[in-house]
Amino acid sequence: MIDSRIEEALGKQINQEFAAAYNYLGMSGYFDANTLDGFAHWMQTQHNEEMAHGMRLFRYLLDRGGKIDLATIPKPRSDFNGTVDAFEAALEQERENTIAINRLYELATECNDYATKSHLQWFLDEQVEEEKTIEDIIAMLRMAKGDISAILFLNEKLGAREAIDEAAPGA
Ligand code: FEO
Repeated sequence: MIDSRIEEALGKQINQEFAAAYNYLGMSGYFDANTLDGFAHWMQTQHNEEMAHGMRLFRYLLDRGGKIDLATIPKPRSDFNGTVDAFEAALEQERENTIAINRLYELATECNDYATKSHLQWFLDEQVEEEKTIEDIIAMLRMAKGDISAILFLNEKLGAREAIDEAAPGA
């Protein structure tokens, strides 16, 4: 039987992943409304990934015999002061999520819950990737300095992002 502290912490993390998904959806709507469809697509893909993360933990908690107690998802921001502002909000969210996953991992260590540690390893690796990707986009946006040709180039580039099937083995 899963430790009640891990059960509660996993419940919180499920909420955080779905809240992140909702925030990305807000960002996607913002970009779509501002005719940057590539940026909107990137954020929509990010939304889908966060939903998959939430479901990974949801499934895991059930598989461990834990109880699901879903909480409220806060209202996301849907308005930003341009591309950099939106991506900085995304980066802040990912950094907070990394801290949350680290804390969860520490708790699993404290509770000698090896299965949860193993499950969380994937999330730790994913966070490294997500933070780096967003940091790179912010760096490119800063280099662009609002130049419309550069922004449209990035719009094309982000629009070409392929969805990853995170349920697939090895994904
Ligand atoms: Fe679920 Fe963006 O980490």
